[in-house]
Amino acid sequence: MFKILQKEVLAENTKKIVVEARDVASHAKAGQFVILRNDERGERYPLTIADFNAAQGTIPLVFLEMGKSTGRLGQFDVGGAIPDLVGPLGNPTRIENVGNVICIGGGVGIAAAYPVARAFAQAGNHVVGVIGAKNKALLFFEDEMRAVCDELIVTTDAGSHGAKGFVTERLSELIERLGADAIGEVFAVGPTVMMKAVAETTRPHGIRTTVSLNPIMVDGTGMCGGCRVEVGGETKFACVDGPDFDAHQVDFGLLMARQRMYLQEESQACQAWRLEQGLKISDEENPASC
Ligand SMILES: Cc1cc2nc3c(=O)[nH]c(=O)nc-3n(C[C@H](O)[C@H](O)[C@H](O)COP(=O)(O)OP(=O)(O)OC[C@H]3O[C@@H](n4cnc5c(N)ncnc54)[C@H](O)[C@@H]3O)c2cc1C
Ligand code: FES
Repeated sequence: MFKILQKEVLAENTKKIVVEARDVASHAKAGQFVILRNDERGERYPLTIADFNAAQGTIPLVFLEMGKSTGRLGQFDVGGAIPDLVGPLGNPTRIENVGNVICIGGGVGIAAAYPVARAFAQAGNHVVGVIGAKNKALLFFEDEMRAVCDELIVTTDAGSHGAKGFVTERLSELIERLGADAIGEVFAVGPTVMMKAVAETTRPHGIRTTVSLNPIMVDGTGMCGGCRVEVGGETKFACVDGPDFDAHQVDFGLLMARQRMYLQEESQACQAWRLEQGLKISDEENPASC
C-alpha cells in the first residue's frame, strides 16, 4: 500500500498527491514514471514522477483528471492509500552539459518538465524554461520552474497570463534570439500535438530535440506491446526504449492514431463511473466529464 501524505489542487482538474513510496523515491531519476492501479480490478495507467525525495521516501504525482482512472485517483484523500504502484519505470532523461537547454512543458506536461529542467540546471546548463497552458486556470508550477530555470517564459493560448500564444512561438523567438547553433538541446513534454509542433520548429535548424512520449501503456515492462511507437522507421516500446525519443524521428501521426484507439471504451467507462458516482457527464468544458 502506498500512503497518500498530501493532496493539493494545483489547477483546474489538476491535482498533486504526495505518495509514500520509499523504493521508488530512492531510485527515481528525472524522466521516469510509475504505473498504478486504483484498486485490484482497476486498469494500469502511467504517471510521471514529478519529483522525488529519497530522504523522506516520497514522490509527488501530478495528474489531470481525464477519465475514470485519474478521476477516481482525484477522489483519494490524505490518509488513503494506492494499492498498487510500480516504478521507477522507463529510462531517465539523458542529461548532459550541452550549454543552452530549452525545456518546454505544456499542460499537465509541466509537471514532467520540472525535474528535467532541474537536472539540466544541476548539470551546469543554462536552462530556459517555457511553460504553456490553454489559460491561467490550467497553469501550475510557475514558481517551481522559475526556481530551477535561468529564465522562464510563461504562455497562455489567449494571453490570460504571460505571453499570448503557443509555446512554439516562444521557441521560435528563442531560436532567433540565442541562435540555433548556441542551443544544445530542446526538451519537450506535453500534448502530442504540441511535441509534434516543437519537432517541426526545431527540425529546419537541426537542433537536437527530445520529446517524452505518452502512448497508451499497460504493463510498462515491454511485454504487452501496447505502447509501440515508430521512431526512425523502427518499432520501439516507449515503456522500455523511452519514454524519451529523438523528436525528429518520431511518427507522431501514428502515435496520435494509437492514442485514440480506445476512445469509445474510455468514454463508456468514464460515463458509467460518473453516473455511479452521481457526477455530471458530457460537459465539454470539463476534461473529467467524459
Ligand atoms: C509515460 C507516461 C507518463 C504520463 N504521465 C502523466 C502525468 O504525470 N500526469 C497525467 O495527468 N497524465 C500522465 N500520463 C497520461 C495518463 O496516463 C492518462 O491521462 C491516464 O491514463 C488517463 O486515464 P483515465 O482512465 O483517467 O482516462 P481515459 O478516459 O481512460 O483516457 C483519456 C486519454 O488518456 C490516455 N490513456 C488512457 N489510458 C492510458 C494508459 N493506460 N496509458 C497511457 N495513456 C492512457 C488516452 O490518450 C486516452 O484517450 C502519462 C502517460 C504516459 C504514457
Ligand atoms: S506498456 Fe506494455 S510494452 Fe510498453
